[in-house]
Amino acid sequence: MTVRIGVIGAGVMGADHVNTLHRYVPSAEVVLVADTDTERARAAAATVPGARTADDARALIADSLTTLRAMDAIRRRCGIVFPGEAPGAGQPAGT
Ligand SMILES: NC(=O)c1ccc[n+]([C@@H]2O[C@H](COP(=O)([O-])OP(=O)(O)OC[C@H]3O[C@@H](n4cnc5c(N)ncnc54)[C@H](O)[C@@H]3O)[C@@H](O)[C@H]2O)c1
Repeated sequence: MTVRIGVIGAGVMGADHVNTLHRYVPSAEVVLVADTDTERARAAAATVPGARTADDARALIADSLTTLRAMDAIRRRCGIVFPGEAPGAGQPAGT
């Protein structure tokens, strides 16, 4: 499985994370680099074929939260519970 990743902040650490993920983590795909400094975002994204850039990370965060909520709903439907969580927690009544 490939995990699609958006990196927010393309300074020293962000650019290094982009490089590490792209070169050394086969299961990771950097798909977007967001930085308010568009030149930094562009420079970091240019090292990854196909990676997009953004100057505002809010859309990326909103998209990720939507995905996480959908995954959590599927988890609950499948009856997968986290340690300490009551079975069926969060499921709508009658499901
Ligand atoms: N550099 C290091 O060795 C190091 C080591 C450990 C931890 N850190 C921590 O990592 C963090 C980043 O450090 P850095 O050295 O990469 O800093 P940096 O200044 O090189 O990079 C930060 C980047 O974030 C961008 N940015 C700021 N606000 C943003 C926003 N709202 N949306 C998108 N992009 C935004 C800036 O434009 C900049 O390019 C800091 O909290 C730092 O303390 C740094």
